Amino acid sequence: MNAARMATQPQEFRSRRRRLMDSLTGGAIVIAAGHDSPRNNDVDHQYRQESSFWYLTGFDEPDAVAVLRPGSTTPYTLFVRPYDPTFEIWMGRRAGVRGAVGPLGANAAYPVEQLDAQLPRLLAECDTIYYALGSDDRVDGIISGLVKQRRRMAQRGAKSVRRIEDPTAQIDAMRQVKSDDEIALLQRAIDITAVGFEAAMQTAAPGIAEYEVQAAMERSFRHLGSPRNGYPSIVAGGSNACVLHYVRNEETLGPEDLLLIDAGAEYGYYTADVTRTWPVSGEFTPAQRAVYDIVLDSQKKAIDAVKPGVGFDDVHRVATRVLIQGLIDLGIMKGEVEQNLSDAAYRDYYMHATSHWLGLDVHDCGPYRDDKGQIRLRPGMVLTIEPGLYFGPQAKQTPEEYRGIGIRIEDDVLVTEDGCRVLSEAIPKEPDELEAIVMDAR
Ligand code: GLY
Ligand code: MN
Ligand code: MN
Repeated sequence: MNAARMATQPQEFRSRRRRLMDSLTGGAIVIAAGHDSPRNNDVDHQYRQESSFWYLTGFDEPDAVAVLRPGSTTPYTLFVRPYDPTFEIWMGRRAGVRGAVGPLGANAAYPVEQLDAQLPRLLAECDTIYYALGSDDRVDGIISGLVKQRRRMAQRGAKSVRRIEDPTAQIDAMRQVKSDDEIALLQRAIDITAVGFEAAMQTAAPGIAEYEVQAAMERSFRHLGSPRNGYPSIVAGGSNACVLHYVRNEETLGPEDLLLIDAGAEYGYYTADVTRTWPVSGEFTPAQRAVYDIVLDSQKKAIDAVKPGVGFDDVHRVATRVLIQGLIDLGIMKGEVEQNLSDAAYRDYYMHATSHWLGLDVHDCGPYRDDKGQIRLRPGMVLTIEPGLYFGPQAKQTPEEYRGIGIRIEDDVLVTEDGCRVLSEAIPKEPDELEAIVMDAR
């Protein structure tokens, strides 16, 4: 099996299952994998395991179901697609029932076709079932059927199902704080991404297509062992950078263009998420440089604010205040910073959040607020810091020289005991350094 796929050790998956079982009292936990998604006719999109299913099982095939029964002598059962020689000829190996109990560490395994018969049997003694209703149509139906059946048989001594509880918040809470092994995988994904950005900076030039720059970058990702991206690369020249999730990547770079690339290699299922913006000619125009300096200052101040106990939204406010002050200094916005912050006038130029969690998913799981208010940062959390300014068609007051400029700078930041570590700090972002890199490439 390839190294990136096997990067997490079986004992780490086992200890996650154990922690989950310990954190939920009684009952049994049922978690469904994803399914193939058809692209057209008999061709599917490339399958990637649903992240929480991967987090708990390390099993990368679709259609599987995991059942965890704390206290049982066989606490971990996997339902898997069975061995199928014809399938193997067309699509390659499956773990099958034998692979599930061996390398994957299940105590028992069944072909997924037996789910209707076996799942009610495995859950027979449970009055609480931890399952995210709605996550899988087939499992929804089976669980609904067994609840009805047990209700009907209650007079004859069947244990009725009293609670169906969603374990998602519990799993998300585990995923939100990364272990050392997870941080090492994230760091590897980010280090690979750094090499990709280097290749992109060497390749981008006036007359080169966005998709060609993308190919050079992603070629480095693949070369270094990343099997796929964590999300579709955004390779946006000129005003395309004002389209926040521009993924068409089909235009040709012009001599005055900035190039914004937002990309992340995936490694061992963990993804980087980095953005850099630089002038393809090797020289910022004065207007581009003025905006760049504001975004960079905002990003650095927000990173400086990251430490345990700080609120998630407070980091956004630090970044946003700097952006607003910069817009006022440029004469683009009027008034006071705090007033602009509260009436959100800046949203014509900065319409996204400064941060999101990062991990197995690019927009990783876990809440940003709970009933106590904004989430406070804790060591082991990983978040992006990604302020930007965008002078697209929505920004009607923009003076001519700023029109079409879109700049975002994004790093991946680990909260540590006493502050933070910028995992992506090796990727250049100082404007003079960016200019020198592009000039040297010529
Ligand atoms: N790449 C998407 C984002 O930065 O959130
Ligand atoms: Mn990004
Ligand atoms: Mn991001």
